Amino acid sequence: MSNQNLASGIANRGALARMAGKDIFAKTAAWTLTDEARAMGMYPYFRALDMNQGPEAILEGKPVVMFGSNNYLGLTTHPKVREAAAKAIMEYGPSMTGSRLVNGTLRLHHVFEEKLAHFMKKEAAIVFTTGYQVNLATISGLLSSKKAVAMMDRQVHASIYDGVRLAQANGAQMVRFHHNSAEDLDKRLAALAEDEGALVLTDGVFSTEGEIADLKGMVAATKKHGARIMVDDAHGLGVLGEKGRGVCDHLGVQDDVDLIGGTFSKSLASIGGWLVGPRKTLDYIQHFAPSFMFAASCPPPSVAAAMAAFEIMQEETWRIEKVRENARYMRDELRKMGFETGPTDTAIVPIYVRQELTTIAMWKALLEDHGVYVNPFIPPGVPPRNSLLRTSYMATHEKHHLDRGLEAFRAVGKQFGLIPG
Ligand SMILES: Cc1ncc(COP(=O)(O)O)c(C=O)c1O
Repeated sequence: MSNQNLASGIANRGALARMAGKDIFAKTAAWTLTDEARAMGMYPYFRALDMNQGPEAILEGKPVVMFGSNNYLGLTTHPKVREAAAKAIMEYGPSMTGSRLVNGTLRLHHVFEEKLAHFMKKEAAIVFTTGYQVNLATISGLLSSKKAVAMMDRQVHASIYDGVRLAQANGAQMVRFHHNSAEDLDKRLAALAEDEGALVLTDGVFSTEGEIADLKGMVAATKKHGARIMVDDAHGLGVLGEKGRGVCDHLGVQDDVDLIGGTFSKSLASIGGWLVGPRKTLDYIQHFAPSFMFAASCPPPSVAAAMAAFEIMQEETWRIEKVRENARYMRDELRKMGFETGPTDTAIVPIYVRQELTTIAMWKALLEDHGVYVNPFIPPGVPPRNSLLRTSYMATHEKHHLDRGLEAFRAVGKQFGLIPG
């Protein structure tokens, strides 16, 4: 298999996986692409880390500088976060072995919900098991008839797409507006029938590109047409806004956005999800979303760790400043070298490569020749011609980590002709 076939094969894995056959397992045996990619050392996914201490990690026995994590505030190694998780596991055990609806709610969940709602300046909050579940449950719970429209940005996270697909199973419609275009949103809302109601859905910070959504424009269009808006702020919490309150605060639309959701798996150094908004709406969701009602609750150590991280985020505000400073430094230096980084002003700095095979080859060179860990994104994870290396930064990256990364990006960028030699 040539490298070119390999790259297009990885890119077309969706099409390969749809290979027909009466036995639905037949396609899995016929699909050898990943085996071949692994054999060639060109397979970037599911690689096992032996150790992960924030900016430094060990991948398959080899030390690496980590530029591929969402540990934005560097809190996975904070002693108070680790102690909170350890204490909760001893006090309550590793799992509630039940859903929030029945035996899975601890007082701890409610305490954190009150803190989240207060901090986010909303009436109420719900703690979910993952950020993915937040979107599945909220969107499918709220959009449940033919007259309900999921009005979504084209480039939202997969979990929003899946939430909308579930809503479609209830009869709801999906309408997509041009990426980050409040103007197109306005047009599409205007085109809805009088009796159709829309929930506008967008990432606050687009998770691959690090681009900030035009929420001011989107909120204006939403209000003009009497619709509602939900923002997924997975990548804004802890990075943007006062005390890390997130993208809505950063853009001055905290009060105008109806629902804000996110995850514990990035700045909050844990796993779980959160949603804030009007009390009645949240109460409705928690009674009409099977993906929330019939899934086990966020485990006690995860809730306790996230809550400790949430407190530290507000106390140690230097972390918020530092992650922004680190990302800006990297973005500016990469741009000076001649890399295309797109319109990011967050902790995510993409390096656009555009070509799938070159993206994978650069990922491999960075990792194997320079010990630098980044995440390659190729279609269908990104639109065609948008292949990129996604780099992301932490408050705990020190200058020497960043400069080591820059040296590696310069060398590999020149090697592959992405920047001038
Ligand atoms: C924008 C966005 N929403 C939702 C999620 C899902 O969050 P979780 O990892 O908590 O399921 C992610 C995580 O990758 C994300 O980037």
